[in-house]
Amino acid sequence: MKNYEKQIQALLSKMTPEEKIGQLQQCGPSLVGAFDVSFDELLNMMFDGRITKEEFDRLMGTAEQDFHEDDLRAGKIGSYNGIGDSATANRLQKIAVEETRLGIPLLFGYDVIHGFRTVTPIPLAESCAWEPALWEKTGRVAAKEATAAGVHLTFAPMVDVAKDARWGRVSEGAGEDVLLNGDYGAAKVKGFQGDDLAKEDAMAACLKHFAAYGAGEAGRDYNRVDLSMQRLWEEYMPSYKACIDAGARAIMPAFNDINGVPCTVNSWLLRDILREKWGFNGLVISDSNAIAECVSHGIAKDKRDAAKQALLAGMDMDMSSNSYVECLKELVESGEVPEHVLDGAAADVLRVKFELGLFDNPYQTNEERESLCLLTEEARSIAREAAVKSMVLLKNENQILPLKSDARIGIFGSLAADKGQMTGAWAIGARPEDCVSIVEACEARGVSYQYSEDGKDMLKIAASSDVLVAAVGEMKEESGEAASRADITLSREHLALVRDLLATGKPVVVVLFNGRPLAIPELAKHAPAILEAWHLGVEAGPAILEVLFGDVNPSGKLTTTFPAATGQCPMYYAHINTGRPGGKSKFTSKYLDAPVEPVYPFGYGLSYTTFAYGDLKAEKKEDAVRVSVSVSNTGERDGEEIVQCYVQDVAAKRVRPVRQLKGYEKVFLKAGETKEAVFTIPLEELSYYDWDMNKVDCEGILRIYVGGDSRAELMEEITL
Ligand code: GLC
Repeated sequence: MKNYEKQIQALLSKMTPEEKIGQLQQCGPSLVGAFDVSFDELLNMMFDGRITKEEFDRLMGTAEQDFHEDDLRAGKIGSYNGIGDSATANRLQKIAVEETRLGIPLLFGYDVIHGFRTVTPIPLAESCAWEPALWEKTGRVAAKEATAAGVHLTFAPMVDVAKDARWGRVSEGAGEDVLLNGDYGAAKVKGFQGDDLAKEDAMAACLKHFAAYGAGEAGRDYNRVDLSMQRLWEEYMPSYKACIDAGARAIMPAFNDINGVPCTVNSWLLRDILREKWGFNGLVISDSNAIAECVSHGIAKDKRDAAKQALLAGMDMDMSSNSYVECLKELVESGEVPEHVLDGAAADVLRVKFELGLFDNPYQTNEERESLCLLTEEARSIAREAAVKSMVLLKNENQILPLKSDARIGIFGSLAADKGQMTGAWAIGARPEDCVSIVEACEARGVSYQYSEDGKDMLKIAASSDVLVAAVGEMKEESGEAASRADITLSREHLALVRDLLATGKPVVVVLFNGRPLAIPELAKHAPAILEAWHLGVEAGPAILEVLFGDVNPSGKLTTTFPAATGQCPMYYAHINTGRPGGKSKFTSKYLDAPVEPVYPFGYGLSYTTFAYGDLKAEKKEDAVRVSVSVSNTGERDGEEIVQCYVQDVAAKRVRPVRQLKGYEKVFLKAGETKEAVFTIPLEELSYYDWDMNKVDCEGILRIYVGGDSRAELMEEITL
C-alpha cells in the first residue's frame, strides 16, 4: 500500500477543527415527508398498531430523502451510509469536491454483505462450501457491482464466531468455528479490495463486529459479553486478526461490551490491541448510533461524555449518532480532547480516502457503468455456483434423491414461490424480481409439477405425484439483526404441513430455507430426505433443482451445530469434555429431555456418493505436525468431499476442546478414485493460554482425527 502520510499531514495542517470533525461524521439520508416524527418512530407506530400498514405506506409515499446538503457544503460531513446509486453519489461528491473550502471527497459506505444487486447465498450458507476461492470470487462480484453504484466501502465481512443458534446474526458470518470465520473473512477482504484499492472496481472492506459480538449472553442481540481472556483470545480474536492480516482497511467495533466496557469506548481493544499490538492504521467506524448508545450502556453520562470517551478510545468515525459533530468542537476547545487525538482520527479517514484514489479520482463511476455492471450473466452464474455449493444434504433415505428427470412433483409451502424470501437477511440492494423461486425454476425447466401454497388439494396432488417437496423453514426477517429467537424449532404450521405430507404415504423431500441452525428432531426422524437450502439469493430456485435432479452432486458441510432443542443452546462441537461427559449414566453432563449428541453435527453433510478414509499418518516435522490420509470415492458417481482435520490436546494446563478444526480440504474424486490429503499444522497453532494468560505450547499426547465431519473416529496419537 502506497504511503500518503505527507499528503495527509499537509492537508491536516490546512484544516480547521470543524473541518477535521466533519471528516469524522458519517450520516445516512434521513427520510422526511408528510410525517412529523422520525422514520424509526413511524416504524414503531406501525409495529405497535398506532397506524395501519396502509397509513404507513401512504405516509412513506410522501417521503423524500434529506441528504443534508447544507451541512455537506459547510464541511460537516465526511461520509454517507446507504447511498446505493451512482447518480446520487456523484451529485453529493460534486458538492464535496467543488463547493467545500478544501474539496475533500466523500467516502460512501454500504452494507454489501452477500452481494449488492446479484444477491449470493447468505454468509452462513456460503461458509458451508468450505472454499476460500469461492468466497473471494463472490466478493469480487459484489465489489464490481457495488462500486459501479458508487460504493467505496462495505460494512463486511462479518466474522463474529457464533455458537448460539438463537442469535439472528449467525446468518451473517461463517458459523461457530474461528478458523473458518478467519478464512472466510480473509477471502472476502481479498475479493472486495482486489489487488489495488485505488482501482474503480475495488472497495474497502470493513470487518466487523470487533469483538466477540457473537458471544452475546443467551443469544440475545446486543446483549452483554462476559468471557475469560483465554476464550476471547483462543475462540474469537483470531478471525478478526485474519482479516487485518489480509489487509482490511476498516473495522467496525461491536455494539456489545466486553466484560463491562463497550467496544465503542474500549481503548484496550481499539488502541492497545488493534493499533499497538496488531499495527492497524486504517479506519475505525462505529456501528450505527453506537456512540450515543454508550449512555444507555451506562458507561457515559451524556452524549458529550460518550463522544469524548469514544474518540479518546480510538473510534475515528461516528455513524449516524451526531455525537462528534455536536460535541467535539467544545471538547477540543476546552482541552478535554487534545487536538492531536482529533488529528489522528481525521488522518485515519483521509488515509483510506487517499488509498481509494478518491482525491485523484472522486468520480469513480457513472450511470452507464452502473447499468452495464449490475446483474450480469457472469454474476448470475457465479451466484448459481455459490448457491449449489452452499447446500447441505442432511438426509437421503433409500436414495429418494436425486429425482428422475421425469418425476412428477407436488410442491407445497409459500417459500417455494416467494421470491423475495430467497435473498435472506441484509440484502438491502436486492430486488425480489431478480430472484428465481423453486416454482419458477420448475416452469423454466419443464418439470412436471403441481403447486399448493398452503396444502390445499394435498391428497389430489399427492395422488398424481411421484414425490412431494415441502418448502419450509424461516422467513428472511426471522434471522439477521435484531432477530434472536427464543424457540428455534420449525413453526407449527410448517411442521403440520410436513406431517400431513408424510401421512399421504408418498416420498417427501423437505427443502429447508433458514438463516440459522434449527431444532428439527422430528424432521430428522421422519422425513426421508432433507436438503438444507438456507437463503441462497437470486439463483436459489435453479440451484435447488440442480441438486434435487442430480445435475450436481451436493458437497456442502454444516458450519454450525443443529441442536435437538433450543434449550441446548449454545451447542457447539469444540466443547470441553467436563469430568462427566454426557453419556448413558445418569450422573453425567446432559439434559433429561434431550439427547447428548446434536441432530446434525458441525462439518456434517451427505453426498450422492460415499467416501471412505484410511491410512491416517501423523508425525512431528520440525515446527509442525504433518498429517496425511487417503480418501476414496466408494460410490457410483463422481463427487467432492470436504476432508476435515481436527486435534485434541488430551492433557493440558487448561482443559482443551474435545475437537478443534485445524485443517480442511475439498477433494474431487471420480467414482472409485483414491487420493491423499495432507495437512501441515504449525505447532504455534496448537498453543493456548494458561491460567495466567501465558501462551503455552501443546505438550504430551495430541490426538488427530480426520474424516467427513466433527465426529470423525479415524484417529492417530502423537507425542509432542
Ligand atoms: C447495523 C449493523 C451493522 C451495519 C450497520 C450499518 O446496526 O449492526 O452490521 O453495518 O448498522 O448499516
